[in-house]
Amino acid sequence: METYQRFPLTLIRGKGCWLWDDCGERYLDAVAGIATCTLGHSDDALRRALTHQLNKLQHVSNLYQIKEQEEFAAWLVEKSCADKVFFCNSGAEANEAAIKLSRKYGHLKKNIKNPIILTAKASFHGRTLATISATGQQNYHKGFEPMVKGFEFFNYNDLTSFKALIEKLEADSPQIASVIIEPLQGEGGVNPGHKNFFKSLREICTKRKILLIFDEVQTGFGRTGTWWGYEQLGIDPDAFTIAKGMGGGHAIGALMVKQTANIFKPGDHASTFGGNPFACKAGITVGREIERRKLLCNVIKRGKELSDGLHNLQISFPKIIKETRGWGLIRGLQIQEESTINAKAIVEQAIKHKLLIVSAGQKVIRIVPPLIIKEREIKQILIRLEMCIRDLT
Ligand SMILES: Cc1ncc(COP(=O)(O)O)c(C=O)c1O
Repeated sequence: METYQRFPLTLIRGKGCWLWDDCGERYLDAVAGIATCTLGHSDDALRRALTHQLNKLQHVSNLYQIKEQEEFAAWLVEKSCADKVFFCNSGAEANEAAIKLSRKYGHLKKNIKNPIILTAKASFHGRTLATISATGQQNYHKGFEPMVKGFEFFNYNDLTSFKALIEKLEADSPQIASVIIEPLQGEGGVNPGHKNFFKSLREICTKRKILLIFDEVQTGFGRTGTWWGYEQLGIDPDAFTIAKGMGGGHAIGALMVKQTANIFKPGDHASTFGGNPFACKAGITVGREIERRKLLCNVIKRGKELSDGLHNLQISFPKIIKETRGWGLIRGLQIQEESTINAKAIVEQAIKHKLLIVSAGQKVIRIVPPLIIKEREIKQILIRLEMCIRDLT
């Protein structure tokens, strides 16, 4: 179906941070399958582990005990603030689970008839009907109305807006089950959360017994330089969702909950493929490789070099670049509103310079390379990006 506006580029092979097209041209990959190919392409350790798993067992369903799933769940729990894991196959599916969890929590723990979930404007939570309803961007709703009921929106990083919404909704009695929020808004323009805002959010949610759920689909699994985006903000959520980078390019997602939010009972939720041996083998291998190769440290170092380089670009082209934002290896370049250049033009020009980058809205360039990226490859991203901007000016 015509659901994607694809670039006329056919990528047939990859190694590390590099991809080759069907004409033999080589591209530097700063997209990583949209923040997904954590270990780059054709990683030896991942290939070995998955080949072994394919030869052993791929899928049995959740009717039975699954060793690989138990092992990965134990690892995730050890590495995070969560106590329990529900596995699924994608970010949207993980958020669907979080939405169902919120509603059940509202009914069960707060006795709310029609539980409301608060989410932020400019957020992105996926493309299923409930997750577009949760997404605070009208353009994703258009043509698919009516939206799923029960979502209300506040301005991201804006405590006044958040408090006003709570007061409006809870003037008489508790109505709010949860807040679902990204620690850094990815698709919405690479907007990092502010520590003060999130600290107050945590306090208010605790006081009012509202579940604080983080959507870590894009920020989780090391992308920001810590395992989880919430560590950047110095608070723990009650639950969080993950996907993208956790499988290193393989389909897997999860809802992670603390014991207080561990309310699903048998029959409440399920997924045929969720947490199958193959996907879990991918996840645990990616996790262990991040540890073994000290990739969190690499993310911090390479992220700093990238950020410094992008700042220099901003200084060189102040009429085009407004600012650069981000954490670790998720970086955004905000283009000046008045500039006639938009993100798509830069992305297209970058392809000509054999660099793959991705937009986040009309005016933001997003750079999310594999976490294994080397210093000289960061330099190449910056050199090629500068050439694109020069070309367009
Ligand atoms: C923060 C966030 N949540 C959810 C999703 C949806 O994930 P998926 O495309 O795996 O369904 C995305 C995808 O970009 C995302 O960035």
